[in-house]
Amino acid sequence: MPRLPAPPLPKILQPKPKRPGEERNGAGPVSPVEAGITVVDWIDERTSLSPALRWLLFRKVPRGINWFYTLGSATMFAFLSQAVTGVFLAMYYRPDASGGAYESVRYITDDAFLGQFVRAMHKWGASVMIILIFLHMARVFFFGAYKYPRELTWIIGVTLLILTLAMGFTGYLLPFDQRSYWATIVGVNINAGGPLIGPYLADFLRAGPEFGATTLSRFYAIHMLLIPGAIVALIGAHLYLVTKLGISAPPWLKVNAEPESDQSEV
Ligand code: HEM
Repeated sequence: MPRLPAPPLPKILQPKPKRPGEERNGAGPVSPVEAGITVVDWIDERTSLSPALRWLLFRKVPRGINWFYTLGSATMFAFLSQAVTGVFLAMYYRPDASGGAYESVRYITDDAFLGQFVRAMHKWGASVMIILIFLHMARVFFFGAYKYPRELTWIIGVTLLILTLAMGFTGYLLPFDQRSYWATIVGVNINAGGPLIGPYLADFLRAGPEFGATTLSRFYAIHMLLIPGAIVALIGAHLYLVTKLGISAPPWLKVNAEPESDQSEV
């Protein structure tokens, strides 16, 4: 007699599909690598972020690239270092023009744990970032990497350069000692002499016609909120374009390739 097939198990009794890490069947302790993979799998199952990361990190780059191509990443590292050290400085700094700012910087330098080290990292790091950004820009310029289709990458880069210099200018006032006070007055007056928007820009920076207590708060807000936020957003756009368009090949490779293609067309 033919046997009827068994009816399907009710849903509640059906075995559940295995989740990442379950196939181990509890054999032995989890190794750190397995644990890492499980965590990454867990996040990826819920966010599907891995294709985006693969797109960003595992890219083909042209033949013949060299150390000059690392200057953009070096600039980004300098910015990250400024962000981290800046957060620690902000934990102690007070933008108080009646002596509090100067005193808080003195406290950071002389008394806070590793304060002098963190302050020096931030101060020297500012110069390092400005040197690196100029070197990166010079690499892009001399390799002709600003040409079609990378014009927008260059324009965003110019904005990043201006914002980085503005970080240096606004940060210089914050210790509020004689040097930073008078140097910033000179800087704001130079801005005031600019055509058309100069006087308005100077008024905006001073927070009015006179250099006063609110000027320091304004510089502090611009230095630690406004410009860093803009820089983070623009670095994101810059890197999106770098990834989407791919890195340009070194110019000498193009020079070698062109005569052949010209000849074949003539
Ligand atoms: C915060 C500042 C900046 C950061 C973090 C940054 C970061 C980067 C990175 C990581 C790359 C990938 C290739 C490489 O490193 O050469 C790149 C490429 C590029 N950057 Fe920047 N950059 C900055 C500022 C600038 C400036 C000031 C300019 C020009 C005015 C610029 C123009 C470009 C261009 C055109 C490319 C494409 C180069 C190519 O395809 O070969 N960047 N940037």
